[in-house]
Amino acid sequence: MDPQTQDRLDALLRNFEELSPRFVGYPCNQDFDYTALVPFLRYCINNLGDPFHDSNFQLNTHKIEREVVLIFADLMRLSRERAWGYLTSGGTEGNMYGLYIGREIFPNGVVYFSQDTHYSVVKILRVLKARNIMIKSQDNGEIDYDDLYETIRINRDSPAIIMANIGTTMKGAIDDVDRIRGILDDLAVTDSYIHADAALSGMILPFVDEPQPYGFDHGFDSVAISGHKMIGSPLPCGAALTKKEYVARVARSIEYVGVLDTTLTGSRNALTPLMMWYAFQERGLDGFKSVVQGCLDTAEYAVTRFQDSGIPAWRHENSVTVVFPKPSPEIIRKWQLASYGDIAHAITMPHITRQTIDQVVDDCVNQDSPSPSWRSNHHPPI
Ligand SMILES: Cc1ncc(COP(=O)(O)O)c(C=O)c1O
Repeated sequence: MDPQTQDRLDALLRNFEELSPRFVGYPCNQDFDYTALVPFLRYCINNLGDPFHDSNFQLNTHKIEREVVLIFADLMRLSRERAWGYLTSGGTEGNMYGLYIGREIFPNGVVYFSQDTHYSVVKILRVLKARNIMIKSQDNGEIDYDDLYETIRINRDSPAIIMANIGTTMKGAIDDVDRIRGILDDLAVTDSYIHADAALSGMILPFVDEPQPYGFDHGFDSVAISGHKMIGSPLPCGAALTKKEYVARVARSIEYVGVLDTTLTGSRNALTPLMMWYAFQERGLDGFKSVVQGCLDTAEYAVTRFQDSGIPAWRHENSVTVVFPKPSPEIIRKWQLASYGDIAHAITMPHITRQTIDQVVDDCVNQDSPSPSWRSNHHPPI
């Protein structure tokens, strides 16, 4: 290798090694080891087309992909016989897929989503040119059920496509899908579709003893889950899951590659299915249960440490998102914290240790120039 190229690569690697232990604000697990999969980097593999159908492009990991989709079906309580899905480039693509299917089923439907919904959804709705209405959020990040009721009531003549948050980006809030279904029932809205954005919590709720309502048995019609979040992967990835009968509406047969075109993108990553599959093989569902429990324990530790230091931190039940007043820009930068308005959050992913939390709390306590919100009287909303 050219020495200059080597130097650039070495420097980049050192930078990542230095940064990754301080990666506290975003829900990307850094604790994984896929070196066993390195030999697969030698092949141009591609999962284009429907993973449940044949393809002329045989350098693929469709079989592995199907196995992963069916694991997600189990986790989301969708029977394997009725399940269809594919592995995506991440949560955004999964949300676009779910809303696309909803829009195809109800072309004149109105999409309802809360203020706390991930920023990508507004863009997705523009791309889909779907009618939509933003619903107020409560202070705790959950959708405002009264506003949702009133808004659907006024638009009762249109099918309702609900974009439910199963773990919001900033506050980890979970919209109560049972209550949402109750609203639809009360208003006698029979044409409805629920897409769930379970980017992070889709890999948490299946592993806790008392989850908030989630899953197809609670009315999901589709769900998006990220792969690089709780599972962990060097490449962004995720899953889109829905029911077989819905997908038949969008399928087209493409002669050129001999595939059924049911996915949003054409060429698709064939390595990330391998990574997700490998993670499930190696850890097993029991392994993920203890990983998730560890993250929740660290989150509780963080809330206690912050509160014991006089900082009003809080989190939702079953959430690894610890919310606290936005600290100084130096601290935000040092710990790569995510902030929005006057709050910031730490997300206790598997690579975050109690020692890391101690350091973040100490830095917050000792900061020189906190942001104005720091001094305001913060009242945790839960
Ligand atoms: C709730 C939620 N939905 C969707 C996304 C988008 O996921 P991705 O970055 O995998 O596209 C995120 C990302 O953080 C998220 O927090």
